[in-house]
Amino acid sequence: MTTTPKAGRSRLDPEPVPRRDWLGLSSLAAMGSALLFGLIGMLKLPKAAVLASPSKKFRVALPETLPPGEPFVPPGRAVAIFRDGEGVYAVSTICTHLGCVVKSVPEGFECPCHGSRFARDGEVTKGPAPRALPWFKVGLAGGLVTIDEGTVVPSGTKVAG
Ligand code: FES
Repeated sequence: MTTTPKAGRSRLDPEPVPRRDWLGLSSLAAMGSALLFGLIGMLKLPKAAVLASPSKKFRVALPETLPPGEPFVPPGRAVAIFRDGEGVYAVSTICTHLGCVVKSVPEGFECPCHGSRFARDGEVTKGPAPRALPWFKVGLAGGLVTIDEGTVVPSGTKVAG
C-alpha cells in the first residue's frame, strides 16, 4: 500500500506516527522506565547493618612518656590503662550507673551523665553509681600490654612490668 504525500509535506519528511502506535510506544517507554527505576531502587536497598564489634581482647603499646598513675585511654576503647611503681593495670571507663563513658579528671573519673565520680582505682567517691569501675585482666608481652575487657579481675590486680 502506498500513501501519497499530503499537501504541505515534503516527501522526505518522516511519516507521522499514528495515534495508536504513539500510545503503544509511550506505554512501552513507561514500562521500561518503571523497570529501570525499580532495578535502581532494588540496588539501593539498605544493606545489612551488622557491624563487627571490636574484639574484647586487644594489645596496645603504652606511651613511653606516660607518667606514673596517669591514665592512658587507647583510641576507640573504654578502658584506662595505668602504670605505676607496682605494675600495669586497666580500669573500665564505663559508668556502673547507666553505662555512660566516664571522663578522666585530676581526681579520677567523672561521669558526664549523672555526675558520679570515681577515684583513680575505680572506687565510687560520689553516686549515683552503685559499684566501682571494674578492673580488667592485663598481660605484658613483647613490650605490649594485652587487655582483656571480657575478664574482670579483683581491684588492685596489677601486672609487674
Ligand atoms: S550513667 Fe554515670 S552517673 Fe549515671
